[in-house]
Amino acid sequence: MKVIGIEGTAHTIGVSVVSSDGEVFSNIFKTYKEKEGIHPREAANHHASEIVPLLKRAMEEAGVKGEEIDLVAFSQGPGLGPCLRTAATAARSLSLSLEVPLVGVNHCIAHLEIGRLRTEAENPVLLYVSGGNTQVIAFKKGRYRVFGETLDIGLGNMLDKFGREKGMSFPAGPVIEEKAKEGEELVELPYSVKGMDVEFSGIMTSALNKEVLVEDLCYSLQETTFAMLTEVTERALAHTRKDEVLLGGGVVQNKRLQEMIAKMTEERGASYHVPEAEFCVDNPAMIAWTGYLMYDSGISIPVEESNIKQKFRTDEVEVTWR
Ligand code: ATP
Ligand code: FE2
Repeated sequence: MKVIGIEGTAHTIGVSVVSSDGEVFSNIFKTYKEKEGIHPREAANHHASEIVPLLKRAMEEAGVKGEEIDLVAFSQGPGLGPCLRTAATAARSLSLSLEVPLVGVNHCIAHLEIGRLRTEAENPVLLYVSGGNTQVIAFKKGRYRVFGETLDIGLGNMLDKFGREKGMSFPAGPVIEEKAKEGEELVELPYSVKGMDVEFSGIMTSALNKEVLVEDLCYSLQETTFAMLTEVTERALAHTRKDEVLLGGGVVQNKRLQEMIAKMTEERGASYHVPEAEFCVDNPAMIAWTGYLMYDSGISIPVEESNIKQKFRTDEVEVTWR
């Protein structure tokens, strides 16, 4: 069976073709780069103009024709309305014209499922840290449950906002990682863990108000926020009695974050897993693969019921495939 997956929740639009035995034939995506904050409609316009060329390239690279496709999956949420609608419209028309079933996929769950496919992790706690999302997710009693999450903004967005104020290029995460290596002094910033949840806005405001070297600020931002994430992930491991941590989302490419998670898991006798970069960031292969898993367990949706869900909760989905 061959599946087309379309991702389009936020900055990234992409198309992938995967097979039912987990082979990724193509995983092609483009990211809309914004200069001044988030412009959902501009991102959606970008996606609308890129989707057809991306579809062609993904099918070409996979070496498949339309009639060989058995299923279309798309990112149904959570995300930005205009972006979600653009991806969903493309998926619906493809499903109708190819006369194949349609599946709507939860983007956060897809990060977890692609990690299980691409790494050795089987039943992990997922630390998912991207631009818009920061969540600790694990499977329990038939659902993927959120054990901890950000109460305000995603860590990536916070790093990007901080970077913008400091004149760094977008995305600022990798720039901050480089500058942090030159940092020597740990500046005190609010450590905001509330129960199992985290908060980042206050930390950013506090950092922007300090008159110290930007390298020290970057270093301190990373040390503080990554320690918070490591603490919450460790508590989720203890609570769920699992022994694997899976990383997902663009921010987890940060080597310092990986180092802190590695140390924590090693001390607990647990393991940690990071998929290749193209499967960490928002990518369409994760949508195609999760769509296949869902379809294989009996799920598909009629086009007229395929509305997007901007606030699609991770624990809304009944996990029929595990
Ligand atoms: P989502 O819709 O899932 O929230 P997104 O559009 O923000 O996704 P991702 O590709 O998952 O997309 O993540 C992008 C974020 O990752 C950006 O905020 C960027 O600054 C951050 N990032 C990328 N590399 C690094 C790094 N090395 N260190 C820290 N942050 C990073
Ligand atoms: Fe994502």
